[in-house]
Amino acid sequence: MDFPLKELKHDFIALYGGDMTNIQVYFAPGRVNLLGEHTDYNGGLVMPFSLQVGTILLVRKRNDRKIRFNSKNFKVNADVCLITDIARVGNEWVNYPLGVINEFRLKGLEPVGMDLLYMGNIPNGAGLSSSASIEMVTAFAVNDLNNFGVSKLEMVHMSQRAENNFVGMNCGIMDMFAVGMGMDNRVIMLDCDTLDYSLVEIPMEGNVFIISDTKKERKLADSKYNERRSQCEAVVEIVNSHHPIKNLSQLSVAQWDQYKSLISDEVLRKRAKHVITENQRVKDGMAALAHHDLTLFGQKMNASHESLKTDYEVSCYELDVLVEAAQNVNGVLGSRMTGAGFGGCTISLLPEVSVATFKNEVGEIYQQKTGLKPAFYLAVPSEGVRKL
Ligand code: GLA
Repeated sequence: MDFPLKELKHDFIALYGGDMTNIQVYFAPGRVNLLGEHTDYNGGLVMPFSLQVGTILLVRKRNDRKIRFNSKNFKVNADVCLITDIARVGNEWVNYPLGVINEFRLKGLEPVGMDLLYMGNIPNGAGLSSSASIEMVTAFAVNDLNNFGVSKLEMVHMSQRAENNFVGMNCGIMDMFAVGMGMDNRVIMLDCDTLDYSLVEIPMEGNVFIISDTKKERKLADSKYNERRSQCEAVVEIVNSHHPIKNLSQLSVAQWDQYKSLISDEVLRKRAKHVITENQRVKDGMAALAHHDLTLFGQKMNASHESLKTDYEVSCYELDVLVEAAQNVNGVLGSRMTGAGFGGCTISLLPEVSVATFKNEVGEIYQQKTGLKPAFYLAVPSEGVRKL
């Protein structure tokens, strides 16, 4: 996990005083998604796993009703008094944990005062869910320290509500769920409508997943994300007047072929096509894994990227360059953007023996075409949120 724990404990004491005896340590990972993009808020299927990198949290109870926040990654800190209502602090990182603490209070669960120190090793803004990681590590630690007995699934819901209502980002449930429920060497197959899920071992057979970071800031991501959501809702409304559906994922590809002529707006038609075909790709991907067919799985990843690029239009030049360069490396089974899009990262499946060539070839082409230096990380499915 690679955190300088001893140093962090010294930092904690330098900030808050006292000694090391009662400092508790928690960890929540980031996540990457293999298939099923922009399907979660459409009641669809997703296939994420939690990463080996994430957020570590050092925390100690206080004798008063104050909560103090510090982070090794961000300059802004905050002191909050639990006697009054919790208010947002500008657009700062601290709104993620504040939103979660607010959720406990909305349930009538009043936490004790605490000193908190966070450190993350997920690249910020790379679309690997550093925010869900901060939320879930906070929820887990607050629940544990106060013996509230809240289930992990409820913490997932609370973190999503914190992000939707307190932070103001209208995300789906995938990120928090993956950060909470992940297991070593397992990918999560989640139905975002029913929240039925299974943890499935991937037959890697000498292959690995590599995350490539565009290092491009995701500027438009939030506004475009909300726009895509309302476009999907608009299609549901139109189809609903002919055939009752709750969300787009209730339509099979065959049903979509039947109803698509109801949608006169070409853009809306493309958006819906992505969601409906992407759901089918997740189903096909699951079947491919069950048959140990990583070649077919990789083809589904490639098709997912094409659909995100052409029909959902959430890719960007940098992501497309990375994906195309990756797909052209000898031996690569599949590559696609991962997460919300408009920058961030790609995920590629390739033989372990090809990793060095991959980094060289993709790195060179990407730098040449964009002037940016990409970063590469090995992505290993790892355990979800926990106490260390
Ligand atoms: C972001 C959101 C998720 C999901 C993905 C796209 O990561 O937080 O809920 O919608 O984008 O699949």
